[in-house]
Amino acid sequence: SKGAFTSLYEYIPRMRKSDQLADICWENLGFSLVPTDQMYLSKCSAGGNFSKGGLRPYGNIELSPASGVLNYGQGLFEGLKAYRKEDGSIVLFRPMENASRMVQGAERMCMPAPTVEQFVEAVKLTVLANKRWVPPVGKGSLYIRPLLIGSGAILGVAPAPEYTFLIYVSPVGNYFKGLLAPINLIVENDFHRATPGGTGGVKTIGNYAAVMKAQSAAKAKGFSDVLYLDAVHNKYLEEASSSNIFLVKGNTISTPSINGTILPGITRKSIIEVARIHGYEVEERLISIDELPEADEVFCTGTAVVVSPVGSITYLGKKISYGGESGGVGIVSKQLYSSLTNLQMGLTEDKLGWTVEL
Ligand code: COI
Repeated sequence: SKGAFTSLYEYIPRMRKSDQLADICWENLGFSLVPTDQMYLSKCSAGGNFSKGGLRPYGNIELSPASGVLNYGQGLFEGLKAYRKEDGSIVLFRPMENASRMVQGAERMCMPAPTVEQFVEAVKLTVLANKRWVPPVGKGSLYIRPLLIGSGAILGVAPAPEYTFLIYVSPVGNYFKGLLAPINLIVENDFHRATPGGTGGVKTIGNYAAVMKAQSAAKAKGFSDVLYLDAVHNKYLEEASSSNIFLVKGNTISTPSINGTILPGITRKSIIEVARIHGYEVEERLISIDELPEADEVFCTGTAVVVSPVGSITYLGKKISYGGESGGVGIVSKQLYSSLTNLQMGLTEDKLGWTVEL
């Protein structure tokens, strides 16, 4: 046979006509995989363009043992969410941002990428085909996971000869336990997530494998996640394993600037804009670890984590706590969380044009 999965998959339209919800328990969804009905798949050869692609039943895919992604980590992913509104319609949040981030990441990873239009169309198609899996209002969201992988076989270190763009979805609730429950971070002193000139600034799969050792050790000690420092000085804040970080001090909100080692989060970017609209001064700059004790509030942002208030940060055995009001959640974190999620869920008028209705 020719490539990895030619002819194995055919376009099998099995769109469900029913608008009924899937028959699962919608209470207490966490962030774990729930298999859904359909996934999207499109392929292209190196130097080519992605074909239209299509839906097929959700399930395993076949890959050559020599595929670029399995051997050399040539792969990118994205993450975005769809929410159900009171009137039953479904909204996506800034899908074009994910599409263009994939285009930029693909350039870094020597991969062809779907166009922004192709990406957004494919996301819409996949969500509509899995409509019954979008949780009811207030129960969570449909997490959308686009993947771009070097699926073609290659033995030496080089870009794969064939690429696969696929999208699957899963209903999710909170990433960390409990809504707006403060998380406890530990600053990592020995391991780094990213280095200058490396791939920290793109959403490549390897960035996530690289953090697992430190993350597992932190979890074993009872922490929610790890906060990474820059690899050159071991001094400046970078981000957590799957989210960006923000510090609040008075009316000023600071976050590490995008410099190649920081993942350019879409929630990060959105929170910066929302905070400015609320009248906060927002600075993107180098933030030293020494600034942590002076912060009034700290929070993390990400598609999966949304806005997660930080209850404490432990560094070299010393614990800095952030009290805040209403059960340890700072007022700024809470305000920004509400503003953002109300927009994402279509509860407030979208003056920024960030939501896309299906
Ligand atoms: C997301 O927020 O979508 C992420 O990329 C985090 C993911 C690793 C769970």
